[in-house]
Amino acid sequence: MSPIIEFDDVTKVFESPSGPVRAVDGISLSIEPGEVFGVIGYSGAGKSTLVRLINGLERATSGRLVVDGDDVTRLTEAQLELKRRRIGMIFQQFNLFRSRTVAGNVAFPLKVAGWPKADRDRRVAELLDFVGLLDRAHDHPEQLSGGQKQRVGIARALAAQPHILLADECTSALDPETTQDVLRLLRKVNTELGVTVVVITHELDVVRSIADRVAVLENGRVAELGTVFDVFTRPTADVTRRFVGTVLHDRPRPADLDRLRRTHDGCIVTAEVRDGSTLGAVLGSAGELGVAFEIVYGGIGTLQDRSFGSLTLALDGPDAAVDALVERLRAVTPVEVAS
Ligand SMILES: Nc1ncnc2c1ncn2[C@@H]1O[C@H](COP(=O)(O)OP(=O)(O)OP(=O)(O)O)[C@@H](O)[C@H]1O
Ligand SMILES: [Mg+2]
Repeated sequence: MSPIIEFDDVTKVFESPSGPVRAVDGISLSIEPGEVFGVIGYSGAGKSTLVRLINGLERATSGRLVVDGDDVTRLTEAQLELKRRRIGMIFQQFNLFRSRTVAGNVAFPLKVAGWPKADRDRRVAELLDFVGLLDRAHDHPEQLSGGQKQRVGIARALAAQPHILLADECTSALDPETTQDVLRLLRKVNTELGVTVVVITHELDVVRSIADRVAVLENGRVAELGTVFDVFTRPTADVTRRFVGTVLHDRPRPADLDRLRRTHDGCIVTAEVRDGSTLGAVLGSAGELGVAFEIVYGGIGTLQDRSFGSLTLALDGPDAAVDALVERLRAVTPVEVAS
């Protein structure tokens, strides 16, 4: 199967008073049909520019970008306009029409596309049923909670039966519980309707709740890309480690390490924990080597139903014995020795 979205060395440069900004800088990546693809990055990383390139709201400065069968860098404005109608998009601030009812909001793109009223009404009812808001059809957006507003946004985005749904920080205005509700609905959009979903966020929790694969963006470039599990359990880029730290708090910061060195004798080491790692068995052999250990820091969490995290240990004993234990740990998991 060929990718539904394919970036091939795509660059977007904005001119600004302080000089050119490379918001997207030579990105190549492929998104497969039917996947939920996460894009994570801190503010200014280029996430919104990336989605706006996909639906043609921005034009690439260079490179090739194929979206659902068309190279969007070569389409005319009129062709892009039509293309955009076939790509769903939801936003952080929902972007609903305050003057229209819930049904009116969902019907709007169908009206623009010239659907007859009877067809429109049928489709709107079907969509509101899908997002669980059929009984709110005649309400106005201000009568709804944030989560319900986003459900309307999703219904509207799906109206014209898009193959792709783009979600730019779509849960950033919601509390954690409502966030999970909306993410569950996006999962349902993906599994029941087969829509490819691209989720843009600065929150690792969002990506790990919903995405199959993830690209970590920094300064307009892909710092890391892979399955959510691989990227976040074995981060190779500093930016990825920062994201992991925000949910797990498992690794001691430099100030924590200073304190641990003051309060514990011996060597401070941090060992990764993953499903199936046999850390316990190795630590069980510490006594026979003449090493005493204490667990002084750490955190273990779950990602895609598998454990990951790290434990920091103070190892106390003769140098050669401590080295031998570190070697045994290294044989089963990555280990960092604090200098
Ligand atoms: N129209 C524009 N003109 C000039 N610079 C722009 C424009 N749009 C974006 N930029 C710059 O491009 C870079 C990437 O911006 P972008 O909005 O894509 O980041 P982001 O990852 O979505 O950030 P945030 O998390 O804050 O939404 C930033 O440095 C931004 O200032
Ligand atoms: Mg943005």
